[in-house]
Amino acid sequence: MSARRYLVAGNWKMHMGVGEASAFLEGLLQEELPDAVDVVVCPPYISLPAAAMLLSASRIGLGAQNVHWEASGAFTGEISAPMLAEIGVGWTIVGHSERRSYFGETDETAARRARRAQEEELRVIFCLGETLEERDGGVTFEVLERQAAVLEGLDAERLVVAYEPVWAIGTGRTASPAQAQEAHAFLRGRIAAVLGEEAARAVRILYGGSVKPGNAAELFGQPDVDGGLIGGASLDVQSFSAIIRAAAHLAAGE
Ligand code: 13P
Repeated sequence: MSARRYLVAGNWKMHMGVGEASAFLEGLLQEELPDAVDVVVCPPYISLPAAAMLLSASRIGLGAQNVHWEASGAFTGEISAPMLAEIGVGWTIVGHSERRSYFGETDETAARRARRAQEEELRVIFCLGETLEERDGGVTFEVLERQAAVLEGLDAERLVVAYEPVWAIGTGRTASPAQAQEAHAFLRGRIAAVLGEEAARAVRILYGGSVKPGNAAELFGQPDVDGGLIGGASLDVQSFSAIIRAAAHLAAGE
């Protein structure tokens, strides 16, 4: 087993306004979550202040789903890293494939966001992954290499990488454990190339794409898979908790 702690993060996407988010978190706080696994939830912006209050005394981390690269300015509709830090948000997702495909995110803009977030001491979950067309076209590893190249200069201590093959997101079609391991091992090599060997050993690489309670253990059991970035299954307290427990069993060597 590696020294890296498992991390299970929930990306709620555009789900759960303040009322639903509060009810969900009250439910999650009732669960006896295992200490061996780090847990983060990423509600939509509008629910972050309520979530920050509810989670302030817990060890569940709080993340945003995106962040701008400037501290303030004429950027209508954007939210900055200092604004997030001010209310106690400690994490942010950057470069999610939905941002890339629907909102014009590029490797470069994702990297700018990540750098700025880290300057404000936020931890970054940097998402990357190939489309179905790219996988079928045999260019998966070229794409991952290009996407990972922009991690250069980031602080490894505040970095988590999430491998999310686009064809597995919200489709019910999960990467096989072997496919996930192959991509994660490749990405660890790229992290070594851009951030150094020590960083490559320390940086957690999460798998994302149709993770459910029933497949979490086999995915997280791969040597280079350090947990998951969970979409749909993170919207239900029972299924999210079950995924966290699957990681805890693996951490305990069970
Ligand atoms: P699903 O778990 O719903 O496939 O979403 C994965 C994802 O995009 C997490 O960021």
